[in-house]
Amino acid sequence: MRGYEPKILCVAQQKGGVCKTTSVLSLSAAWAMEGKKVLMLDTDPQANLTRNILDYEKVKKDISLLYRGEADIKKLITKTPYDNLYIIPTRTKLNRVENLERTLSTFNTLRKNIPLIAKRYRYIVIDTPPSLGLFTISALLAATHVLVPVQPTFFCQEGLGDLNETIRDARESNPNLKSVRYFITLYDRRTIISQDLAAVLRQQLGDKVFKTVIHKNIAVEESQYAQKTIFDYAPKSRGANDFKALAKEVEEWLENA
Ligand SMILES: Nc1ncnc2c1ncn2[C@@H]1O[C@H](COP(=O)(O)OP(=O)(O)OP(=O)(O)O)[C@@H](O)[C@H]1O
Ligand SMILES: [Mg+2]
Repeated sequence: MRGYEPKILCVAQQKGGVCKTTSVLSLSAAWAMEGKKVLMLDTDPQANLTRNILDYEKVKKDISLLYRGEADIKKLITKTPYDNLYIIPTRTKLNRVENLERTLSTFNTLRKNIPLIAKRYRYIVIDTPPSLGLFTISALLAATHVLVPVQPTFFCQEGLGDLNETIRDARESNPNLKSVRYFITLYDRRTIISQDLAAVLRQQLGDKVFKTVIHKNIAVEESQYAQKTIFDYAPKSRGANDFKALAKEVEEWLENA
């Protein structure tokens, strides 16, 4: 029998606005709906994930306390309005950690702390900022799997090389980082460029790209303003169906890679 293996998924891409936060929330919500306990970590000082699911003004304890070594990780876990779905939230003051405290122990914060609580959750999913700085690196040092959203735009390949290099560096210190996969997002069926670029990506990255494509769907954006998951806001929408399909594929990968 295989021993216990934590599944720690880091969603990363230094390009902004490519659906990192949306996929962290939607994938986690899909698994939670199936009765699996999921913990999300918001390591982006923009705090978008936190705002999407909690009342930001009421967030008192946030992940910056962990990075500063001032709180026990167990005390930071916060219930969301959804069953089985938990979050370690952030506030924008997390910016100050990045500015002041770039020591080795800050980079290793998640790697050191997540194992203390990992057994309680089937999946741990980390949202990262649009950069390859402290927080993305600290997530990569803790992760077992990395998921990269790619938007099929003219410049989408730019930066993937830097990201891969950062992942390679992280692997040197984190032997638990097993596997990297990509998915195509914000896909617009009506444009030829979306179709062409998606085909190019599949050609270059091969079976590292998941079959499911996340289409542009206004319900996804609206669900954010409503502070609901896509499954709660518009369960029959294209967005809900896309994310359900992606959750299935990603889960298979997490369980087997
Ligand atoms: N499938 C979709 N269809 C339409 N809009 C979407 C979709 N997915 C995400 N969006 C919207 O695109 C914007 C960016 O998404 P999101 O915040 O998830 O990206 P991000 O990569 O986390 O951004 P950042 O790099 O700033 O953290 C948001 O306004 C979101 O509502
Ligand atoms: Mg984000």
